[in-house]
Amino acid sequence: MSNIRSVIFTLLLTASTSFAQISVLKPAFGRDGMVSSADSIASAVGVEIMKEGGNAIDAAVAMGFVLAVTYPQAGNLGGGGYYMIHLSNGGNYAIDARETAPSRAARDMYLDSVGNVDSHRELIGGLSVGVPGNVDGLILAEKKFGRLSLAKVMQPAIELAKNGFRVSYALADVFKRDKGRLSLYRTTMRYFSKDGHMYEAGELLVQKDLAKVLEKIAEKGRDGFYEGKIPEMIAREDQETGGIITAQDVENYHAELRRPISVDYRGYDVLSMPPSSSGGVCLAEELNILSKFDLSKYGYGASESLHYEIEAMRRAFADRDKYLGDVDYVSVPVKRLLSKVYADSLAKEINPFSATPSIDIYPHLIHPPHEGTHTTHYSVIDAEGNAVSVTTTLNSYFGSFVVVNGAGFFLNNEMDDFSAKPGAPNQFGAIGGYANSIAPGKRMLSSMTPTIVLKDRKPFLILGSPGGTTIINAVLQVILNVIDYHMPLARAVEAGRIQMQWVPDIVYYEPEALVYDVKQSLISRGYHLEPREYIGEVETILVTPYGYEGVADPRGPGDAEGY
Ligand code: DON
Repeated sequence: MSNIRSVIFTLLLTASTSFAQISVLKPAFGRDGMVSSADSIASAVGVEIMKEGGNAIDAAVAMGFVLAVTYPQAGNLGGGGYYMIHLSNGGNYAIDARETAPSRAARDMYLDSVGNVDSHRELIGGLSVGVPGNVDGLILAEKKFGRLSLAKVMQPAIELAKNGFRVSYALADVFKRDKGRLSLYRTTMRYFSKDGHMYEAGELLVQKDLAKVLEKIAEKGRDGFYEGKIPEMIAREDQETGGIITAQDVENYHAELRRPISVDYRGYDVLSMPPSSSGGVCLAEELNILSKFDLSKYGYGASESLHYEIEAMRRAFADRDKYLGDVDYVSVPVKRLLSKVYADSLAKEINPFSATPSIDIYPHLIHPPHEGTHTTHYSVIDAEGNAVSVTTTLNSYFGSFVVVNGAGFFLNNEMDDFSAKPGAPNQFGAIGGYANSIAPGKRMLSSMTPTIVLKDRKPFLILGSPGGTTIINAVLQVILNVIDYHMPLARAVEAGRIQMQWVPDIVYYEPEALVYDVKQSLISRGYHLEPREYIGEVETILVTPYGYEGVADPRGPGDAEGY
């Protein structure tokens, strides 16, 4: 039913210039509200909060706290996140709840005696932890834009922690996969294993200590987390596991309200996250370059379209790694990077027939990469058209693998997102320059790209993704699929994706993205191709003249729900 609506809508959108494509995925449909997230319990809570009179912000905040309970691999109290908010009165806001480096952090803290990056210390245990920001972001969002009380929106999370919930297959799967690293820490095992095994799918996971922390936040707001016992508990756990966070670091943390990046793309206004994330700038730069080419003429998956997409990605990521960092510490030429004149010059540099070797862009910054991989995204819209797009993370799944004793939540390993040594890659192969080097109190650069696309100043598409550096390009490709390739939402989300991030000079592709002769054509233009199982996990909402469509990416365990 909703699929048919979606096809009709696509036909309207394309004004009969192309044929709509059909997807086997069924979008959720709703007129009064829609949520799309990686966790079905969180999605159900989001809808329930709106039904009870909450707006999209209330729903998003409730979902954020629920994810910290039911999706502990990425949902969090001990990590960070970004909130993109569009209000039905026209206001657009970005909340930066990114973690910060502890006050005792130093630029070379991860270098060994011969100057190499010790990636173990950067990824596992106390020293990998940034000062948690997400709780302040959630509270700021609720206080400034919510309609209900904090206590009300936190009630579902509190109950789920206190009474327990049935562990999902997705969570059991990652528990199993990461058992080795989880079992490095006794406290972690005490909370998340039972009779010697990690919690399995269907088992009831009760988190009493976490419930107490949530109750304190519900009662006292910011002070329930950033004052009193919690900062001390975080500092103690962090230091016992090799870290340097102090209670005062936690007390001093503040989320920031920022102005979203806004770029016009073929008549749509794309709003996304400003620094400390690179997401918005990078996405905008890619879109600006691509606006110079008639992608819809070539179509999705054509070697011509892919050529321009890859070259736009390469150039935007080169600038990401060269220029971007925390704007409170370094000056980032955001205006220049977003200017149409600059995009014009980059577009002109693209050879229509062949790949530009990455080494030709900023040769002195290139180093060999290493790879690795979790984060989660959710999108919300209410009946009035208030829209929220949130990406939140511990960085890797379960972050540092350290759980705070007495509080029951994981601490992030976000310090890996700094460039520990300018030019040396992090777990996502992102290299980063001096702009992203470590300094006390500084935010590490992110790729998270919570995005809201407006049409005539009203929400049109709400989306975002996990996946480290692949986030930016996963979001880009869903936008192109909808706007340039005229796909219905479900098809736009499931369609195969590619990834190019300047370094390494490789185009990663999901097998479905490139058919045989397209591969041959790209190889003959000089591209190096490598298959990858999944690129991104995009949770989306599309506004149609008939109502809201929601699609959770089939690459993940998610669920869209509307009413
Ligand atoms: O902020 C960032 O860009 C990363 N810490 C996000 C990590 C992530 O998406 C992992 N997910 N697969």
